[in-house]
Amino acid sequence: MQPFMQAMTFRHACKKFDPQRKIPAADFQQILEFGRLSPSSFGMEHWRFVVVQTPELREKLRAVCWNQPQIADSSHVVVILAKTAAVEPGSAYVKQLFGRRNLPQEAEEAYLAKYAAHNDSEIAPYMNTFAWASKQCYLALANMMTGAASLGIDSCPIEGFSKHGVEDVLGVDASQYGVAVVVTFGYRAGEQTPRLRQPLEDMVEYR
Ligand SMILES: Cc1cc2nc3c(=O)[nH]c(=O)nc-3n(C[C@H](O)[C@H](O)[C@H](O)COP(=O)(O)O)c2cc1C
Repeated sequence: MQPFMQAMTFRHACKKFDPQRKIPAADFQQILEFGRLSPSSFGMEHWRFVVVQTPELREKLRAVCWNQPQIADSSHVVVILAKTAAVEPGSAYVKQLFGRRNLPQEAEEAYLAKYAAHNDSEIAPYMNTFAWASKQCYLALANMMTGAASLGIDSCPIEGFSKHGVEDVLGVDASQYGVAVVVTFGYRAGEQTPRLRQPLEDMVEYR
C-alpha cells in the first residue's frame, strides 16, 4: 500500500487512548509542523495551536468537552483557535501577511482590494469571520491527524464541547479568537473502530 493510503487507513477517531504512552517530543513537533504547513485561504494562516499540558487544565477542559475521556487519557491535546479580528479586511495582520510576499506596491494593493471584495461578496453574506477562519483551521486539523497517522500516532478530532466553556477555561480573548476544534493525539488502547463509509459512487458525480 502507498504510504499516504496507509496513513489514511490507520487514522480513525480514537476513542480510547493508552494513558501510559507519551508521544516523543520530536514526533509531536512534527505534528505541529504539519499544521503550520497547511494551506489557508489567501495564505492568512487563520489558526493558533494551544497545547494543553497540565493535568489540572486538562481536567477543566474535559469538563467542558462532554466529559470525553480522550481529553484526559491522550498524550497531547491541542485546541485550535480561529483568528477572527486579525483576518478582517484592512487589519494590520492582513497587510503584514500580504506584505511578506514582497510584491510591487500596486500588486499588493490589488491583492488587498481583492481580499476585501471577496470578503464582501463571498464570505460576509454566507457566514461570519469565525466560521470562515474555522474552515481553514480544519485543513490544519486534517493534516495534523493524517500526518500523525503517518508516524503511527492516533488522534481524535473533538467538536463535542461548549465553545464558551473552552474559551473560559483557556482564558481566550474572544475579541481576537474563537475555538474552532479540539484534537487529541496519542496511542490507541485496543482495536480500531470499524470504518463506516458510504460507497464512492454515492458521493461522486461527473458532469
Ligand atoms: C470535526 C469533527 C468533530 C468530531 N467530534 C468528535 C467528538 O467530539 N467525539 C468523538 O468521539 N468523535 C468525534 N469525531 C469523530 C467522528 O465521529 C468520526 O470521525 C466519524 O464517525 C468517522 O469515523 P473515523 O474517523 O473513525 O473514520 C469528530 C470528527 C470530526 C471530523
